[in-house]
Amino acid sequence: MTFTTDALAGRVALITGGGSGIGFGIAKAFASTGARLVLTSRNAERLEGAVNELKGMGAEAIAVAADVRDPEAIDGAVQAAIDTYGTLDIVVANAAGNFVVPTAEMSANAWKTVVDIDLNGTFHCAKAAYVALKGSKFGGRFLAISTTRALEGWPGCAHAGAAKAGIMSLMRTLCCEWGKDGIRCNTIAPGPIGDTEGVKRLYEDSGRKELELSSIPLGEFGKTSDIANAAVFLCSDAGAYITGADIVVDGGRSRSRSSAGVMAAAR
Ligand code: NAP
Ligand code: COA
Repeated sequence: MTFTTDALAGRVALITGGGSGIGFGIAKAFASTGARLVLTSRNAERLEGAVNELKGMGAEAIAVAADVRDPEAIDGAVQAAIDTYGTLDIVVANAAGNFVVPTAEMSANAWKTVVDIDLNGTFHCAKAAYVALKGSKFGGRFLAISTTRALEGWPGCAHAGAAKAGIMSLMRTLCCEWGKDGIRCNTIAPGPIGDTEGVKRLYEDSGRKELELSSIPLGEFGKTSDIANAAVFLCSDAGAYITGADIVVDGGRSRSRSSAGVMAAAR
């Protein structure tokens, strides 16, 4: 246990993409620190499995199937949180889609699909949750999961890079607009996190795993719990004065990336 079991006591958290990978890691950490959960994504069956696991930990949790590209569906997920628990204090916009394709070969719909899920989906969540977060007695938290690749150029993932950079811009604006409402708006930028769909698609399937590992000063992929711990901190009272921040959790990778070859040789 990294935090006290009451670090998020009384809070209700909605997590998009909460049934797998980093989102589910955050859900488990929130559950073990006292939060009640709403998990949402497209795959109802996977969500139910995740909710059952959280209930097995003794947490309260519900699943709401919704596509973040559909504003009405996201309104419905927020309403389900209010109907079930009477409040909504934390939203984590974690849902994303990504795949590797060179820009010159990317179809217009491939570009649109990823921008719709990542950037537009984050906007829909913010819009849907604003009134509830404003009413949170703890000070609302709107947290988005970005990536260290957003601002450094991302060959093969122009759609996701542009969408995540857009999310970072959106979050800066929300920080300025919603500070008066007590809503803290931050991003967490993960580096490569092991045992996730993201690392599988981006590095393992393309045979780049060893190269990627060689660019990380701490020498290993992160764990979903590493991202989850940062999320608990930001959403707890300990993070009360943090808004407009981009918290990098990447084992130092963004500092060494330009010298990946040198790092590999030095190991
Ligand atoms: P993941 O398990 O595939 O997570 C993505 C989640 O988003 C899934 O639960 C998926 O569930 C949901 N989702 C996708 N499209 C959706 C849609 N249209 N509407 C609602 N939900 C949707 O992958 P992950 O690697 O954990 O990624 C989680 C987050 O971390 C993403 O924002 C990603 O960009 C970020 N990230 C990951 C890494 C990494 O190393 N893994 C690094 C940097 C940033 P359904 O299929 O059920 O909809
Ligand atoms: N390479 C090139 N283009 C691809 C592609 C790939 N690997 N995968 C999908 N596309 C294109 C499709 O061909 C389609 O374009 P088209 O109509 O011009 O042919 C477009 O992207 C949309 O694909 P579709 O399968 O209809 O989208 P979807 O809405 O059903 O699924 C995805 C969304 C494509 C992002 C899917 O990969 C997904 O659900 N991902 C969620 C999990 C994930 O990506 N996790 C990693 C997070 S870092």
